[in-house]
Amino acid sequence: MRHQRAPAKYAEKCKGKKLATLFFEPSTRTRLSFEAAMLELGGNVIGFSSASSSSASKGESVADTAQVISCYADIIAMRHPQEGAPYVASRNASIPVINAGDGGHCHPTQTLADLLTIYREKGKLNGLTVGFCGDLKYGRTVHSLIAALSRYSDIKIVLISPEELRLPGYVKKDVLNKHGMPYEETTSLEEAMPSLDILYMTRVQQERFADVSEYERLKDSYILTPDKLSTAKPDMCILHPLPRVNEISVAVDKDSRACYFKQVMNGKLMRMALIMKLLDEAEKNPVLCCDEVPSQSIAGCVCKNPRCITTTEQELPQLFKLTDAEHETYRCIYCESKLVR
Ligand code: NCD
Repeated sequence: MRHQRAPAKYAEKCKGKKLATLFFEPSTRTRLSFEAAMLELGGNVIGFSSASSSSASKGESVADTAQVISCYADIIAMRHPQEGAPYVASRNASIPVINAGDGGHCHPTQTLADLLTIYREKGKLNGLTVGFCGDLKYGRTVHSLIAALSRYSDIKIVLISPEELRLPGYVKKDVLNKHGMPYEETTSLEEAMPSLDILYMTRVQQERFADVSEYERLKDSYILTPDKLSTAKPDMCILHPLPRVNEISVAVDKDSRACYFKQVMNGKLMRMALIMKLLDEAEKNPVLCCDEVPSQSIAGCVCKNPRCITTTEQELPQLFKLTDAEHETYRCIYCESKLVR
């Protein structure tokens, strides 16, 4: 696919503005997509692409980094392996902070790229059967996209994964059940295929496995080949957030249903829109801060999620939000894990 430039009228929209890309975890697509987006808007980019080249390696907290960068840049895009880190940054920065992926938690800008692609391909976001296949446990793009789809009507979800990599209970309970979204779980891609309008393939997230042998055992659970597509709808749309390892055979790329490279292009265009929107909002409201959710500390309670930002930054206050009054369910405000007392 050829490079698609945005119309010339956007070329100077962010002239004189700086985007800081704070990537504490490796990324090619997302970081370069943000950078390309800002450059196409006429803005500049500063930042780093691994934790080892930032002051985090000297022990600086996310809160301090956010305050420091607020003096240098106009907007931040942050990726971090600890869940909730960009939220901590947004509570401490005086400029907008975009979450570019936090641990296995969520990845909202990938979701916007996914939604734009679905809309462009299908002409709608309602009335679709969407299959998610692969690592539904650690795949943060899956968690974010399911949450976004809950805002549309008549969506059916098909969850295709090995038993060990099923969608976390909190997404089922707080998103699927809460919004009455019908869903089924299966281990068979072949069985699910004929019903799908969208097939969202994912990589098994090697970096989130504590046990390497478990990863080795599960990594080839699903491989999409042209053969397997023979029972799919002729207009089914195949998405993948990329990078792909081997879960989609290269032979599928020629199929007109393969939309994952269009998804990359849409990601850049969408990030241009997001940067413009947030800079515009920040200009209108210079004391902008993140959405403050009502939260409280609960005596003696700490978040037990080992990937939560509170485990590495012990000075952060342990705060919880009530998400289900009936069952008295509290969740960590940073990583959204359920409080286990
Ligand atoms: C995804 C991510 O980082 O979660 N990639 C991306 O942002 N394009 C998916 C993945 O890494 O598997």
